[in-house]
Formats: sequence, C-alpha cells, structure tokens
Amino acid sequence: MTIKASDPERASNRVKTPLYVVIHRSTKVAARAKPKSDSTAPYDRFVDWKQHFARIYQNEPEKYQRLVAAEDRTGELASRVEELATAGSRIVDIGAGTGRLTLGLCRPGNEIHGIDKEAAMLDIARGRLEACGGQWQLSVADARELPIATGWADAAIAGWVFGHFTEWHPDDWEQELDKAIAEMDRVVRPEGIEVVIDTLGTGTTEPKAPNQALAEYHLRLEDRGFERTVLRTDYEFDSVEESIELLDWFFGLGDWARRHNNKRIPEYTGWWERTTSNQARGG
Ligand SMILES: C[S@@+](CC[C@H](N)C(=O)[O-])C[C@H]1O[C@@H](n2cnc3c(N)ncnc32)[C@H](O)[C@@H]1O
Repeated sequence: MTIKASDPERASNRVKTPLYVVIHRSTKVAARAKPKSDSTAPYDRFVDWKQHFARIYQNEPEKYQRLVAAEDRTGELASRVEELATAGSRIVDIGAGTGRLTLGLCRPGNEIHGIDKEAAMLDIARGRLEACGGQWQLSVADARELPIATGWADAAIAGWVFGHFTEWHPDDWEQELDKAIAEMDRVVRPEGIEVVIDTLGTGTTEPKAPNQALAEYHLRLEDRGFERTVLRTDYEFDSVEESIELLDWFFGLGDWARRHNNKRIPEYTGWWERTTSNQARGG
C-alpha cells in the first residue's frame, strides 16, 4: 500500500530569525522584517511557517483532524466534493492528510488514491477510510512525483497543499507549483477534472488571500486556466475555548479568537477548477 517515502522538505528543529516573506509578481522573493501586525489577519504571528506546519503534519495529526472536523459548517465544500465524487470514478487526492476529502470522495464504485508526504497524516486517514464503501489506496509520496500511471484518473484534487510551496520554497515556489500542476495534469485523463483548494481567509469578513505570496499563487493558478469559486467554510467548534485553542495552535489567531468570543468562525475557501483540455498541457 505504501509505495514511496519522499520527504525532501522535512524541517529541522532550528528556530530561525523572524522574517516575513513578501513576494512580488514576476520577481524573486524578498525577505523583509515583519511589518506591524494586523491582529485580525490570519498568518500574522508565526514566523517560521515551514517548521510550524511540518511539525504539525509530522507530530499532531489527531489535533489537525479535530480542527478540520469543525470546518465547513455551511456544507458548501462538502457539496462540491460530492459533485466531484459523482463526476468520475477514479480520483486522486493529492496531500490527502487525515482524509477529509478522501472520505468524501470514497463511495461504492469509486477508486480513490490518496497521497501525502507525511505517513502520520495518512495513518489517521486510513482509520477513517475503513468504513468507506469504495476502493481506496494511500501512498506516502510527493505531489511533484505521483506514483500513479499517466491518464489513470478521471479527476484529481489537491486541498490546501500547493500553497505550502510559498513557505517551503520561498525562492522558487513558482517552479515547484508548476511541477505539481504538471503531475496533476499527467495523471488525469484528457477532459478530466483538476481541482485545487486553498484558503481565502480564516476569521475574515471578505474572501482574500491571507498574504501577498498566497495572492501571487492564486493568480498563477488562474493564469494556468483554473477558475475560482469562493466557498464559505465557517468553523463551528464545541465551545469558545476550543475555538481559541485550535485557531491559536494552527493559525496563530488566539488573540483574535479571544476577542471574537464566538465558537462560530467565519472562513472563506477558494475552489479552483479546470479540465485537462482547458490549458496548455504541462501547466
Ligand atoms: C493543510 S493539510 C491538507 C490535508 C487535506 N487535504 C485536508 O483537506 O484536510 C496539507 C497536507 O499536504 C501535505 N503535503 C504538503 N506538501 C506536500 C507535498 N509536496 N507532497 C505531498 N503532500 C504534501 C501535508 O503533509 C499535509 O498532510
């Protein structure tokens, strides 16, 4: 079941000098002193995002699952996933994590291949998929080198994965993103569906990229033919205390959550979609 372990970006435990990375369109990355914090904006507190998220995915998959279990209380994301599950039977879930999308796609008649670079995340997914009515397989692998035959899939989806390239490869995230898109394109058959999901803001009143690097990433997706749909994916936690705990832990939004003082948290998510015939193949 496990095909390949590939982990080129495993983070060290060294804590770096705080830097805030600003990316300008068509220019190299400039690392700057962190600007004055806007305390209502997500992504404003943690400074070493690479280590922060790598540690979570390697060591705290259960807590990650607690967080995402509270998300999408509007059901807007679930209904898009449901549509995708019926649009094709062979589906690849890239960066499957603890299996939130994988589980939504897995149904009788479907064959789902979930891949993730962190075995710990897939261990949680595996337990959750046991009851799924479809066929499924999970592999530890990198999004830029999928262990899947060319044209195998009717559809592929990558949820909250490719945005990490802006933190993990600040100097050349564009090339890494293009490699991942090219791999997605390779494994999906002609006329198939390709979906990328990413954040448009947690704790915000309007949909927008939480930082400039992610805004550039969204534009690059759109340059490659992905069309954006905005989804409302609010969280609802069991209590205000839980919202403070989990938003602080993942997004660094504890202070904001304390002031917000509500177990319901507004959130926007982008769903970018294209068909394989919709763009120049190879991204
Ligand atoms: C925010 S989580 C999203 C998980 C899942 N898609 C979901 O909807 O909850 C990001 C996941 O992407 C994985 N990931 C990050 N970079 C990756 C890469 N280059 N190749 C494969 N997986 C990657 C992480 O290990 C993590 O499980």
